[in-house]
Amino acid sequence: MEKQKTYALINYGCQMNESDTEHYAGQLKELGYEAIADFHDADVIIVNTCCVRESAEKKIAGKIGELKAVKVKNPDVVICVAGCMAQKDGEKLLKKHPQVDILLGTSYVNDFKQLLLDFLQTRKKGLYTSLEIRDAEFEGHRVRQSPFHAWIPIMYGCNNFCTYCIVPYVRGRERSRSVENIVEEIKQAVKEGYKEFTLLGQNVDSYGKQTGDKEAFAKLLRTCNEIEGVERLHYMTSHPRDMVEAVIEAVRDCEHVCESFHLPFQAGSNEILRRMNRGYTKEKYLELIETVRKHVPNAVITTDIIVGFPGETEEDFEETLDVVKKARFDSAYTFIYSKRSGTPAARMENQVPLDVKKDRLNRLMALQNEISLANHEKMVGDTVEVMADGPSKHPGVWNGRTRTGILVLWPTEGKTYELGQKVNVKIDTAQTWLLKGKAID
Ligand code: 5AD
Ligand code: SF4
Repeated sequence: MEKQKTYALINYGCQMNESDTEHYAGQLKELGYEAIADFHDADVIIVNTCCVRESAEKKIAGKIGELKAVKVKNPDVVICVAGCMAQKDGEKLLKKHPQVDILLGTSYVNDFKQLLLDFLQTRKKGLYTSLEIRDAEFEGHRVRQSPFHAWIPIMYGCNNFCTYCIVPYVRGRERSRSVENIVEEIKQAVKEGYKEFTLLGQNVDSYGKQTGDKEAFAKLLRTCNEIEGVERLHYMTSHPRDMVEAVIEAVRDCEHVCESFHLPFQAGSNEILRRMNRGYTKEKYLELIETVRKHVPNAVITTDIIVGFPGETEEDFEETLDVVKKARFDSAYTFIYSKRSGTPAARMENQVPLDVKKDRLNRLMALQNEISLANHEKMVGDTVEVMADGPSKHPGVWNGRTRTGILVLWPTEGKTYELGQKVNVKIDTAQTWLLKGKAID
């Protein structure tokens, strides 16, 4: 009998990368490969990379370096580096890491299967980094990580060109999948037992923009809400400049669209926002938060914030703190500005020293943590619907998420639960990052 062919996937970066990795897994499965956890023993290794910040790149470069020894031990192994860093560094990466066989840019996810077959025939290194617009429709079958939650990309690329961000250069121009193609994928996943879905895009609010319909995304939410079997529907990421009231109304009206809003504001100072090319002011952003709270009073709002953008003064930074105090986010992803060469901000003067950036990050996190805890404390005594994610690292304790994505832990007390099962948990303890309670049914 022929030996079972195996693959290992090493994924970095955002949810879009996770989703692409699930597509690679699907294509490998079609070719008869089976997943294994230890990449040292695999016949095909894919490293799916991210380059949004320098820290990510350094970590990934170390991992690609490790694969040199794997190639020496097994010269037949196929090493593929995919994703944003592959796109950005192209040939330079191949030269630096001669153990890499296939370098797959972000536009070639759909083509992986064929390109792997080509490589196996010719054993000639492949470099695929063209960013010309390619079809956004999805065909095939993803092998998903979770048995109940599915990532559904609805659009690819980004046209925003925020001055700090590398994404538009490595993911190309925006293109949207058709409604039919998205609905078909969700229906198929429902058939396989999936009940929770996250619609993905770098800027979901510009979904379908090429059709001229500013409300295309709101309509898509309403359409997906109607699909039989969809229990929870999330989406990310929104751009505060592009989020129209119709989206907020769709969240308000649709039973299955969860009441959480991820609205990255990045910085509080209008001057910094202008130089970031964000297209809104602090005042406009806070108005948007008010509109969300007006329509969806129980909304959980989260955000992304960058500290230490070039030229950010102490006064500018205090504007950021002011937004945090006023918006009262449930949680925030906070980042130190990382210089990405090729972006306009990398060439700006007055880069902020690292110690100042670190000090601002610490102050920002301390403030946000206080607010997160206060928000969570208000939930003590409430009963929340949790979708079970599995056992936590504490024996006899399971964890899951509320509709709005808050982590909840509860003791099983001898009961058995299934992954994806809905459990009502009465909250008795609030912490900065999570809630604890007891299952009541
Ligand atoms: N430096 C730091 N953070 C960045 N982000 C994007 N580019 C950079 C950068 N150059 C952050 C933004 C974005 C999140 C995904 O990553 O906050 O919303
Ligand atoms: Fe990283 Fe951005 Fe690429 Fe996602 S799109 S993998 S965050 S660089």
